[in-house]
Amino acid sequence: MAKLEDRDWIIKHLGKLMQAGKEILDKSTLIPTKESPTYDKGYWTGLKLILLKYYLKPYLDILAQRKRVAYIDLFAGPGLTRIGDSKVPVPGSPLIPLTLKESNWQFSSFIFSELDIKYYNALKERISLINPSVKPQVFQEDANNMVERLPILLKGIDHALVFLDPEGMEMRWESLAKLCKSIDCDLIINFPSSGVVRNLHNSQTALTIENFLGTGGKPIPPEAGEEWAIKLYRDNLMGIGKDISTEIKVSSGEGDFHYHLIPAVKTTAGKSPWFNPIFGEAKKKIERMTGHVLGFISEQIEGKQSTL
Ligand SMILES: C[S@@+](CC[C@H](N)C(=O)[O-])C[C@H]1O[C@@H](n2cnc3c(N)ncnc32)[C@H](O)[C@@H]1O
Repeated sequence: MAKLEDRDWIIKHLGKLMQAGKEILDKSTLIPTKESPTYDKGYWTGLKLILLKYYLKPYLDILAQRKRVAYIDLFAGPGLTRIGDSKVPVPGSPLIPLTLKESNWQFSSFIFSELDIKYYNALKERISLINPSVKPQVFQEDANNMVERLPILLKGIDHALVFLDPEGMEMRWESLAKLCKSIDCDLIINFPSSGVVRNLHNSQTALTIENFLGTGGKPIPPEAGEEWAIKLYRDNLMGIGKDISTEIKVSSGEGDFHYHLIPAVKTTAGKSPWFNPIFGEAKKKIERMTGHVLGFISEQIEGKQSTL
């Protein structure tokens, strides 16, 4: 059950996202194309964006002061998300670090990929309306192929925050392993738990599951379920050097639909003591929340913002 402090935490982060979302929506009406697609999903979508926003400050405060850092978003979407029945506008994941000032420090480079041509065009148009001082590089490219191009695109960059938000199992394990080998990075991954469980023992999707999880050719045990899949994925992450990770369950609050967010980093020489305070706190708060409750809170924020 959500506590009062969780509600305040959500209000703090969602309020800023909603403000920025409204501004992007207003500017979007200037987009000349007939359609300006938005990514419309349930309120639970807001929780992953809150986690991303929340991590920007510590990430930039700690790293961007000393290093040149990049933000990489390989499943970028159209740049504007509308959550829940009320279609509350919030910036999509690529526009969060471009529209919200969470730190005195900023990324030196932004790299986005989005396969859908309409979303890709809308994202590019929205970026040009925002007109950021650091111009993002945007590609209409499969995320798995982008991984090959990153080392060249990141010349002169020391570290990256990589946000991976596929709808399903589009990111192959071997691509993720290659990404982690070729660049120094922290990851936030959206792990599609409900979809994985639904397909785990379906012979038609077996290859997709194996490619996604990285089973290394081993058969999926008949008793395997969600916990098995997440453990395998986190063990695999550990095997490629992302030896600190956690999983944060995000529930819709309607039916059993849920996904997990997996932040994963490499232990630093100082043993990364910041990981647990940052993500442990977020885990508690997000797991006590649901998409359903987020909907109520967004209505309260909306009411407050419109009376200001
Ligand atoms: C969950 S949505 C991303 C939402 C976005 N992160 C946001 O916050 O608004 C996943 C996106 O990935 C795109 N996509 C699907 N397969 C892809 C692939 N192989 N490579 C790149 N993008 C892909 C979809 O078109 C969709 O826009």
